[in-house]
Amino acid sequence: MIRPHHFNVLARLLHWAMAVAIFAMLFVGAGMVVSLQYRAQLLALHRPLGMAILLLAIVRLVNRLTRPTPPLPADLPSIQKFAAHASHWLLYALMLAMPLIGWAMLSAGGYPIPLFGAVHLPAILPHSPVVYGFLRPLHGALAYLLFLTILGHLGAALFHAWVRRDEVFGQMAKGDPR
Ligand code: HEM
Ligand code: HEM
Repeated sequence: MIRPHHFNVLARLLHWAMAVAIFAMLFVGAGMVVSLQYRAQLLALHRPLGMAILLLAIVRLVNRLTRPTPPLPADLPSIQKFAAHASHWLLYALMLAMPLIGWAMLSAGGYPIPLFGAVHLPAILPHSPVVYGFLRPLHGALAYLLFLTILGHLGAALFHAWVRRDEVFGQMAKGDPR
């Protein structure tokens, strides 16, 4: 298969739109558990934005698995190639797991899950305080893991752009002129 020089336009659009949305979700999540005043408004934003991220992550995963992607630089040490691939798949796993755990924990807690207006999500797990007690801290712990992975990812992207000065940043930032 001929490999392109850049990620396709759908991958690039979803990458940058979801980067903004996921950053927002991490701060909305952290804000709503410490603010009494804005808790209700932040939660009302957290649920639908999180479900939008789940849908977009599925579209992105299908695009990723079915379309060719640009290669990493041939001279990149294999440990860095491995770290890039492993961290990208970890990011995909967390983009899918975070909203699913949020949805599952509210289901297990027996809470209603309003999205917008009269639209509610159905429960995906039976009511169980024990399962809720497991999933609620898991949602918080994986949010930390997501945040740390994104910081590492951001550091790696800047390392490619400013230190190695290779083509990696442009593969996600620019289109193919040809
Ligand atoms: C990319 C998706 C998501 C991210 C990054 C995210 C992030 C977070 C973070 C950082 C917290 C605070 C955790 C803590 O301090 O323990 C949180 C809490 C929470 N999240 Fe999410 N979340 C996501 C999706 C969802 C979804 C889809 C739902 C529900 C449908 C949801 C429901 C909740 C609830 C109910 C809380 C806790 C509120 C409380 O107990 O005070 N989350 N989330
Ligand atoms: C905050 C600023 C960000 C920058 C500067 C950035 C930069 C980049 C760059 C340059 C690439 C291309 C790597 C390559 O050519 O192999 C890339 C790929 C990727 N990024 Fe980011 N990124 C950011 C945020 C995020 C966030 C928040 C996520 C998801 C949580 C994410 C997930 C991914 C994934 C999964 C890939 C692999 C390509 C794919 O399969 O879509 N990025 N990123």
